[in-house]
Parts: sequence; C-alpha cells; structure tokens
Amino acid sequence: MYEKRDNEFIAWYPNSLAAISDSNDPWKQKEAAFYVHIPFCSAICDYCGFSIEKLKGANTGSYLDCLLREIAYYRDKLTNYQFICGHFGGGTPSAVDSEFVAEVMRHLRANLLIESAAEVTIEVNPISATEAKLESYLRDGFNRLSVGIQSFNDPQLKVMGRPHRQSDVESLLSIIAKQKWINWSVDIMFGIPGQTLKDVEGDIRRLIEIAPPHISCFRLEVIPFTVLKLREFAGLLPQRLSEQTLLEMQELITCMLESAGYRHYGAFNYALPGFESVHNKIAFTAPQGEYIGFGNSAYSYINDAIYCNHADIDAYTSAVVSAGNGIVLSKAVSSREKMSRYFVLGLKFFEVSRSRFIDIFGIDPAYHFGDALTKLASEDLIDIQGDIYTLTKKGKYYVNNVCKEFYTDENKNRSQFPQFAPTITRKQVEKYASLASQK
Ligand SMILES: C[S@@+](CC[C@H](N)C(=O)[O-])C[C@H]1O[C@@H](n2cnc3c(N)ncnc32)[C@H](O)[C@@H]1O
Ligand code: SF4
Repeated sequence: MYEKRDNEFIAWYPNSLAAISDSNDPWKQKEAAFYVHIPFCSAICDYCGFSIEKLKGANTGSYLDCLLREIAYYRDKLTNYQFICGHFGGGTPSAVDSEFVAEVMRHLRANLLIESAAEVTIEVNPISATEAKLESYLRDGFNRLSVGIQSFNDPQLKVMGRPHRQSDVESLLSIIAKQKWINWSVDIMFGIPGQTLKDVEGDIRRLIEIAPPHISCFRLEVIPFTVLKLREFAGLLPQRLSEQTLLEMQELITCMLESAGYRHYGAFNYALPGFESVHNKIAFTAPQGEYIGFGNSAYSYINDAIYCNHADIDAYTSAVVSAGNGIVLSKAVSSREKMSRYFVLGLKFFEVSRSRFIDIFGIDPAYHFGDALTKLASEDLIDIQGDIYTLTKKGKYYVNNVCKEFYTDENKNRSQFPQFAPTITRKQVEKYASLASQK
C-alpha cells in the first residue's frame, strides 16, 4: 500500500514542460503554400487535359468574384498559417488581364499572412504574356515565372497542337532577359510522335544556352478526350515512339542537363543549385507540408485532410456562391495514409529520410513497408545510403511505379482524377470521327 496519501491537486497533465522553443510553441505559425487556379487560355492546345476554358466568351468576371469570395471564406481558418510560397497556375494566368491577377494578389495579401520573402510564381506562355503584363507581375510581388515553352521546334509544336511558334518563344525570352527576372522556370515536353533524339538534343541545347535556373521536363501523354487523341485515332499523327526511344530521350535530357550543372531533383524537375522550387518542397519533399488551393479543380492539404474543388467551372462558381467554398470531395487522412504519403510523394523527389520518419511516426519504416522496401531494393530500384532511402537510376525511370508500392490497400488502383471536365467540343469529335471513318 501507499506509505502516505498524495494530496497534490492534479490540475494538468503532462508535467514535463520545458521553456518555449520552436518545437513546443503552440502559437507558432505553420509554414504553408497557396495555389490559385486560373482556368482560362487564349487557345486550347490539342494535348491538354486540364479543367480549362477558352478565354474568348468566358465569364472571367464571375470567376474572379468567386476566387475573391473563396479566399475571404478561408481568412479566419488560416490565421495560424504563414505562407512561404504561392503559385498561380492553370490554365494560363497570363491569358487574363493583368488587373485580374493584381486584384487576386492584393486580396490574398489582405486575407492571408504571406511572408515578405515568399517565392510567388506565375505561369505564363508565349501566346499571352506581354512586356506590360510581366512588368505588372513584378509590381504585384511575383518573383518567379514558369514559362510554357514545350519545344523550340516549329514542326513539333505543330504535331502536338501547340499554337505558338519559336519566334514567339524568342520574343518572350528577350522580355524576361530585359526585365532581369532572376528566378524562372521553363516547361518543356519530349516524346512527341515523330520526334527524334536529334530533335530532343536540339531543344535541350537551346535550353542550356538560355540557362533558365529551373526546368520542368514532361513526357507528352496522349490523353483520352483531347483533340490529340482524336487526331491520333483519325490517323493524323506520326506513330508514337517506342518505350526504348522514350527511355533514351529521358537519359539524354538528364545527361545533357547534369553536364550543364543542373541537378535532377524530382521526377520532371531539374534546377541549378539553390533554384529548386519551394512549392515542390512543401507539397512533395518528405515530410510534406500543408497547402491550400483556390479555384476550380484546386487541391488542398490542411489539418490532416485532403480535399478538392469542383473541376467544372460552373459547378465551382455555384458552390462558392452558395457555400463560400468550392469543395466537392474530401478525406480525413488516416495515420497509415500519412506514413504512406511520406514515401509516395517524397520519393517523387527521389529521397526520403528514415530517421525523420521515425521522429514523426515513432516507428521504423520497415515495420509497415518492409515488404515493399525489400522488393524495391532487390530489384535495384531503391538504395539505402546511411539514413536516406534514394531512388537508383532505374528507380528514377520507374518513379511512379515505385511510389505506388507504398499506396495503402484502400488507395491501390484508384484514379488520381476522380473528376474530369473535358474541353473538346461536339464539333471537334464529329470532325475527327468523320476523318477516322475515311481511313
Ligand atoms: C498547367 S500547364 C502550364 C502552363 C501553361 N498553361 C502552358 O501550357 O504554357 C503545366 C505543364 O504541363 C505540361 N503538360 C500539359 N499537358 C501535358 C500532357 N498531355 N503531357 C505531358 N505534359 C503535359 C506542359 O509542359 C505544361 O506546360
Ligand atoms: S497546355 Fe497550358 S496553354 Fe495549353 S490549353 Fe492546356 S493549360 Fe492552356
């Protein structure tokens, strides 16, 4: 029995309090990212599967109104967050008037706490970006451009159904140089039907000459419900490239860019030292941070829940008018999914730390993912160097296959895109169906 009755008045628990620091400050603002989706484009590219609308004829006024309402709706819910980066994507933000963009930016600053040094990116393309628009982005506080070039080769731009030409690209590049943008990125695509290794080499050589600090390099996917897919079915495209040629193209790109000083730091991403995207760091690098998305089809990860807005623009605007937000689907993320997320998204950026995992989840990754880790190591897809799990060269090529080994059973074989709002018109479907029937 007890020697003596304990008379302490137990008022709180636990008792092991310590002086306030970064790790135990309950009012510490959490670092997060924001994303704004502007779903309009001057012209629609044949390969595009995004939730977008042609600018001409679009009701941009009502969309802007809803974006502003949605941002204001979250104001009180986000007081504990400090935004260290932001991204305006789409669609093409440079397609709309610069005043549209400026108004959204002012409203964001009025409603969210955005760090003064935050990296804020805007996507632009050669069809719609002008000198005046880029100047206005500098005044609005954007400090990074993401430029959709795709290719420097006119015949290939035509095959993929991209409306700009090399001369448009060169004009935009001279504006970027004249305005002295320091931090900017280029989107480039390869694997275009009919493209040769020599063509890819030409595009990458030109890229290295202009030396953007960051490059995102995507392999063209021919997506159902796009004009490109209809053209392919109608026999109007050169043959698709073999997997072997695509592998050689990927290797050539990586080899050329690495020799020029770029680091291949993510599935599609190459950067000169210090120019890795902050948005990628928050959204993908393990342990991942939180982000909030505004606009149709935007995704958010906040307070251990993931949710997405309506993809269809009208459905999004109706939801914002009636509820203040555009949410259509959401999920509270389970502890098991959080562990899985650490690897699934983290390995897209090629490496994750074992000890960070143990710090956060209190358990060795081998406990939950032992089978996957053993299988990936035996197939030379993953390597453990000290504390770090790294993708091998082969693992980098099969990056998505590797990431999916960490999916929980509930998520296996589920589509990433539960909603899809195709942009092809009935007229286009009829035109290409008729051409296909003449084959
Ligand atoms: C939201 S878009 C970027 C910005 C802008 N709308 C543009 O196209 O210039 C992001 C990038 O995804 C890539 N992309 C779009 N559709 C693709 C497809 N079908 N296959 C592979 N990459 C694609 C392109 O490189 C594009 O620049
Ligand atoms: S690829 Fe970019 S510019 Fe082309 S239609 Fe899609 S979002 Fe618009």
